[in-house]
Amino acid sequence: MTNTDAKMGTKAVWAGEKDYLVHGATQVPVVLSVAYGYDDMDEWYDVAIGKKKGHIYGRNTNPTVQAFEDKLKILEGAEAATSFSTGMAAISNTLSTFLVPGDRIVSIKDTYGGTNKIFTEFLPRQEIEVALCETGNHEQIEREVEKGCKILYLETPTNPTVKITDIERMAKAGKAAGALVVVDNTFGTPINQNPIALGADLVIHSATKFLGGHADALGGVVCGSQELVEKIYHFREINGATMDPMAAYLILRGMKTLHLRVRQQCDNAMTLAKYLQTKEIVEAVYYPGLETHPHHDIAKKQMRNFGGMLSFAVKGGVDTVRDLLPKLQYANRAANLGAVETTVGPARTTSHVECTPEERAAMGIPEGLIRISCGIEEIEDIIADFDQAFNHVESLLKVK
Ligand SMILES: Cc1ncc(COP(=O)(O)O)c(C=O)c1O
Repeated sequence: MTNTDAKMGTKAVWAGEKDYLVHGATQVPVVLSVAYGYDDMDEWYDVAIGKKKGHIYGRNTNPTVQAFEDKLKILEGAEAATSFSTGMAAISNTLSTFLVPGDRIVSIKDTYGGTNKIFTEFLPRQEIEVALCETGNHEQIEREVEKGCKILYLETPTNPTVKITDIERMAKAGKAAGALVVVDNTFGTPINQNPIALGADLVIHSATKFLGGHADALGGVVCGSQELVEKIYHFREINGATMDPMAAYLILRGMKTLHLRVRQQCDNAMTLAKYLQTKEIVEAVYYPGLETHPHHDIAKKQMRNFGGMLSFAVKGGVDTVRDLLPKLQYANRAANLGAVETTVGPARTTSHVECTPEERAAMGIPEGLIRISCGIEEIEDIIADFDQAFNHVESLLKVK
């Protein structure tokens, strides 16, 4: 199905699969073959040089992996998509495709910890200049972009304090400066936000998170124009960070319920954010759906819903976190997000474990910050669970 008029949920179920079904099967098969054989030497040659559709070798292409790419490109409204072994591979391969020594990239301070390490450790080593702006300071980003850059790299909402950047405004600035505008849409999901429709050139996902949704497969993907994606694909097929067919199958299966899961996760996040605001021990709640969030208006403009991620800071910092989190019955304490189970973790041991406390402070991440990835459970049970955990912490404080 390539009908671009269908609604998002219908696309999530049907899109991209038809060409890959065999023997009347209704589900895309997992093709584990590494190589593809040809008796006709001319046909083999034509496929090998890309003149004819087909597969040669699993590092380059695979039918199961391609079905995943086709579904995602339709959900993101892109011409093409290419996939990777992880989200970080998608990010690093995309940057490496376009950046050469002497180039300059502009981004924000609040990107995912791994992405931030690429900016602060690996790109400078290749003599690539990196300008990191305050997230949410659109004027500063525009000023830096105007100075000239090859790439403007954004992530919105950000990990873990869910700050929002105006994609449309930044895409205009990027285009005017001749830069490629890249957006990590992992937190947004294609259900809530489509950066290409807002002017971005490339959209990246860690497919490990909401797309797969079941915390059982790693993957990454980049969507954009045929021309740009072909360049990135070429870098990836040679350098080898290929998505595994079994992972592609699991993520593809997960994506059939993406719209249902994300809808429930957004509802849970909004209710939980409002609940957390009522707790005295909670110092701050970060959720773009709250009217008190500094970027609420931008989120409202560019997102269809506010996402399943939120975070909150507790009084008493790390000590309170240590007492609170083990008490939760319906939450995995883990370095992951986007799964059907609620997942919690302090930024200092999850998204920003690679950073020093000083670096985290500079990014506005308190040591007592807890990130919540809402699952699809019934919210009444989650709130009751948080309630009993907060009661436990409050009773400990009284004893102390
Ligand atoms: C926003 C964002 N982008 C990229 C990544 C990296 O994804 P992966 O773990 O699949 O490499 C993560 C991981 O948490 C993330 O949160």
